[in-house]
Amino acid sequence: MILERNDPCWCKSGLKYKNCHMEFDARIAEFKRQGKKVPDRKLIKTPEQIEGIKRSAVINMACLDYVAEHIKAGVSTQEIDDWVARITKEMGGIPAPLNYEGFPKSVCTSVNSQVCHGIPSSDDILEDGDIINVDCSTILDGYFSDSSRMYMIGNVDEKARKLVEDVKEAVQVGLREVRPWRFLGDMGNAVNEFCRSKGYSVVREIGGHGVGLEFHEEPWVSYVSKPGTEMLMVPGLCFTIEPMVNMGKADIFIDSDNDWTVYTDDDSLSAQWEVQIVVTEDGYELLSW
Ligand code: MF3
Ligand code: CO
Repeated sequence: MILERNDPCWCKSGLKYKNCHMEFDARIAEFKRQGKKVPDRKLIKTPEQIEGIKRSAVINMACLDYVAEHIKAGVSTQEIDDWVARITKEMGGIPAPLNYEGFPKSVCTSVNSQVCHGIPSSDDILEDGDIINVDCSTILDGYFSDSSRMYMIGNVDEKARKLVEDVKEAVQVGLREVRPWRFLGDMGNAVNEFCRSKGYSVVREIGGHGVGLEFHEEPWVSYVSKPGTEMLMVPGLCFTIEPMVNMGKADIFIDSDNDWTVYTDDDSLSAQWEVQIVVTEDGYELLSW
């Protein structure tokens, strides 16, 4: 749709286009002319949509906080699923994973060499020394929030503890590269370089994603990307940073019994933290973490 200068802006601010997103659109168009990948208008969240995502994220983070307080050796991953399902429901939300493309549970629980998409089960009991990622995704009033954290069970050995802490730092390193008019590849490369400097490898095949009005939207967010490549970051773009980092090699395989759970090929430990952010005028704002 071509807007005239005095038409109302597409963002529904009520302002005239020339006083609102006209320059913004022109700036994006210039990057597009240079052959860069740029976001479609529908990926730019309005302030109202961002408020909706934040309300969804209140539930998302409440679930992860509850897990932090109650997780310990002897707890099954099914119990974690029960907690997340109950709290999400009590707070008026819907767990996004449940029945998503056939996923059978309300949350992903990935232990030790499981990279992601672990399926909660009453047979899987957490043991002293385990590390686990709990990946929680929530829908409220049609708005999606998505974040995950690592939890350490009892006495975790030094190398595993370091992996968990380093991957948390890797997300911070990535966040430092997030600001408008730079590229997702700037962020992805920073994450990858940091992880490699610690001797780890970053999973290539699975990454982050746009999120907010749907569970998974554009852009795809890689953490093995090159500076100046991948999508241009602009204010209002909403996505996750969620690198999966292996202590050994980057290679992975999918469990053929359930077609979901991803493991490291070499059985090495894997860790992941996930935050959901929106790009702002001068950087980013965390929406869910
Ligand atoms: N929460 C995951 C993510 O961060 C997606 C899991 S898909 C599911 O993108 F179906 F397994 F839940
Ligand atoms: Co995600």
